[in-house]
Amino acid sequence: MTGEHPYFLTTAIDYVNNLPHVGTAYEKIGADVIARFKRIEGLSVFFLMGNDEHSINVKRASQARGMDPQAYCDEMAARFRAIWDKLDISFDAFVRTTDPTHRDAVTALFRKIHERGDIYPGTYSGLYCDSCEAYYREKDLTGGRCPQHGTEPRWIQEENYFFALSRYAHRIESAIRDRRMRVLPEIRENEILNILQGGLEDISISRSSFDWGIPLPIQPDHVIYVWFDALINYISAVGYGWDDQRFARFWPASIHFVGKDITRFHCIIWPAMLLSAGLELPATVFGHGFVFLKGEKMSKTLGNVVTPMELADVYGPDALRYYLLRESSFGKDGNFTWENFQERYNGDLANDLGNLLQRTLTMILRYAGGKVPSPSELLEEDRALQQGCLSLYGDVRSFLDPQRGDIDFHLALARIWETVRQANRYIDRCAPWDLHKTGDRPRLATALYVTAECLRFLGAILVPFVPRTATGLLAQLGLPDAAASLGPSSFSRWGILEPGTPVEKPRALFPRIDDRSPSRHRTTDPLKKAKPPTPQETSADPSPQVPLGAFQSLDLRAGTILHAERIPKTEKLLKLTVDIGEPRTLVAGIGKSFTPESLQGRQVLVVANLTPAKIRGVMSWGMVLAAGEDEEHLSLVTFSQPLSPGEKIH
Ligand code: MSP
Repeated sequence: MTGEHPYFLTTAIDYVNNLPHVGTAYEKIGADVIARFKRIEGLSVFFLMGNDEHSINVKRASQARGMDPQAYCDEMAARFRAIWDKLDISFDAFVRTTDPTHRDAVTALFRKIHERGDIYPGTYSGLYCDSCEAYYREKDLTGGRCPQHGTEPRWIQEENYFFALSRYAHRIESAIRDRRMRVLPEIRENEILNILQGGLEDISISRSSFDWGIPLPIQPDHVIYVWFDALINYISAVGYGWDDQRFARFWPASIHFVGKDITRFHCIIWPAMLLSAGLELPATVFGHGFVFLKGEKMSKTLGNVVTPMELADVYGPDALRYYLLRESSFGKDGNFTWENFQERYNGDLANDLGNLLQRTLTMILRYAGGKVPSPSELLEEDRALQQGCLSLYGDVRSFLDPQRGDIDFHLALARIWETVRQANRYIDRCAPWDLHKTGDRPRLATALYVTAECLRFLGAILVPFVPRTATGLLAQLGLPDAAASLGPSSFSRWGILEPGTPVEKPRALFPRIDDRSPSRHRTTDPLKKAKPPTPQETSADPSPQVPLGAFQSLDLRAGTILHAERIPKTEKLLKLTVDIGEPRTLVAGIGKSFTPESLQGRQVLVVANLTPAKIRGVMSWGMVLAAGEDEEHLSLVTFSQPLSPGEKIH
């Protein structure tokens, strides 16, 4: 780390009475993408995370295990860090509120605020929610219950010390309005401004009935209120109270990422503490949305997988990272459903991205001796894909820029997948297998180069989102060190992948999820599975012979899928609307191999004159042809060049 002011980003520090879950992980994954992206942009990044240990529930959890609270927190810290490592969260420092340096910082800040005359003794009597670790006013409860947890708060009465929060309402409001402290997204800013306009009450910042915490410097038989203690982590971790030079270099933070439930602590109490102590405010507080698990019977559907977090063990951290990031804007709430997870995994990851890599490497191995070939002059169709690649970085960068008002991970990924799909279509159109057959070496080499270079762009831009997959993809492409040395120039120049680079034999990035028999660790090569049988294998084929006239009576046509959707209560059947010169509705048994989204726009071969039949309440008129070993490994019968919808097949 150099002497310059770094891009300093933080997440909330987690209570350790429970292990991380998919919601807390969502925050860390989102912040990690930003940290990794900023590193690529060339900024010197400092990414802080940590644990919040002085909570009443933490003490209770330690007691329930018959452990000393400190020993319990030490054990939990190791477990938390192991989980964050497993999810490839690239934090630079991990603060704990029982760290001696944190205690020093809390003591120093408390003294400073006390010197300013903002701390005074009093009696607190009122309602307290242990889960929020927050005091509630009667009018802020919902039907007498905590609005976050639905539990009844406890009545407590204590001799306390108070912090003069009310003095700061006006200054905080103008800091937010002047954008000296940006609150994002807008919905959170409005929420905070509303609270500020309603006026603030002073808050109790000590506890006398409780001994697990940092002693009050002015009255050591009291401990500091857990939020007053925890918020200070953002400065204690970078030197406040123990290394002034270090602190001056890091503070103020560039951005605090916190959940929407605790944005008010970060946009009201925290800035008031900083203002009182004469310290600068953080540049931005981003209050992200929540991930909900709606009606999921995870354990039943997933065999031995009980929680979404365990998906990372079974399907790899990137499957979980991708899914959470792909589902919604960071600022809005999202839902976790197993069905969506499976669709995204099989569709986006295994089919679209996995197959793109697989087919590209297979073709380089088959047609170019395993080395990236040298391209000749690019034609218009090559240039279109090249353009898609060259604009990737700028587009993704803008979707990730919080100053736009939100951080749209899902749009960034959708943009990346546009190029993934564009590349798959490019291969279909160029049909390198035909170029090989016809001996058009220059075109073949160009098509393979363009696809491989496009994969280099994709691998590079995916590093912040799915680091392990992206690094593996680049390594298979013959670039084992590329992920470590990415910079903006990696995205502004076409042609970085050197012709002659030896590629690896393809390994599946994402083995498909098979719902019927959870063969999660299968590593078989899907291309191999879809390979047609050899003539020897089919010689014993018992199918009856058909006169030419019978075959000619089939009305075979080229079709383009306009729309696809699942038929409820079946995994196999999809309802398709196919343009065969006219829109046709038909039911196809290809739902275990394709997601509806992956089918949109695909060209298929349709038998158009089958007698209409009602299937699951849908009138189906026609049949889409597909081939494969079983229902999970089907390939669509398609054409080496696009045909107009409705064109007759002879
Ligand atoms: N210890 C406090 C934060 C102190 S920061 C100075 C705390 N801890 S927590 O463990 O309850 O939550 C940690 C973070 O996870 C918070 O930002 C919280 O909003 C976030 N989330 C908890 N559940 C969540 C979801 N279901 N979805 C998304 N984020 C969630 O609060």
